[in-house]
Amino acid sequence: MARRKVGDIFTYDFEDKFDYIDVWKMSDMHLGHDDFDAKEYKKYIAWVQEEPNRFIIGLGDYIECVTSGRNPGTSLTTQQININGQVEVVIKLLEPIKDRIICMTEGNHEQRITKDVQFDIMRHTIAPRLNTHYLGYQGWVRLRLNEKQNYYVYLHHGPSKSTSSNPKYHLDIIALKLGYAGEADIIAVGHNHKIFAHKYIQPLVVGNKLFTHDCWGIRTGGFLNYPLYSREALYPPADVGSPIVRYYKDNHDIEIFHNLEMYRNLNK
Ligand SMILES: [Fe+2]
Ligand SMILES: [Fe+2]
Repeated sequence: MARRKVGDIFTYDFEDKFDYIDVWKMSDMHLGHDDFDAKEYKKYIAWVQEEPNRFIIGLGDYIECVTSGRNPGTSLTTQQININGQVEVVIKLLEPIKDRIICMTEGNHEQRITKDVQFDIMRHTIAPRLNTHYLGYQGWVRLRLNEKQNYYVYLHHGPSKSTSSNPKYHLDIIALKLGYAGEADIIAVGHNHKIFAHKYIQPLVVGNKLFTHDCWGIRTGGFLNYPLYSREALYPPADVGSPIVRYYKDNHDIEIFHNLEMYRNLNK
């Protein structure tokens, strides 16, 4: 069998409304943790509200979600509010812009509940209450700006048993070892709380011509302000914030803004 179908691709249709869209790749707020930077996070929420062509793709770890059943160690002591409260607060923050959320993955923190009690809080609570599409831990989305212009985006929260501190390590596996760089325009991975971007340039055969295909691999940062567990493990401080990706309608072209501060500086 030369080809087998092994999955579906979710399409989000922008119906030719915008010359370009800006998509905040939102992940790793860990809402409920002592060190969640609510002030910085709310700047991104306000940014979405300013213009109709600003959207969100979620990549997991929205809530801290320490469960007492999973050997929490000291992490329960840094959780300010319980999981019920975390869900309510994250929904309250996102409620005013829920119509801008294209889709969401889960993170390993939400998945703790599934592992403990076989209840998928993303599938049954968070995604339905935000009225958005839920992909699971990873998946594809096609951003359809009009009938001619489509972008393919591969999303993954990041392997939960992450051992490499190199932000490119898992991107290389997805892009090069699994070969997704040949198909995707963007590969976005959360989880390690670093902001990082690398452009993979792949050969592409169309008919009797050879082209190049650009695929950006990005790591999507987070909103934890150098938590204690990080210091104890001798991790360096990470950026606070997430990248924003611009997708153009008329040309197949992408721009990456490292974080909101860079976006503001370059779009004055
Ligand atoms: Fe995280
Ligand atoms: Fe994570």
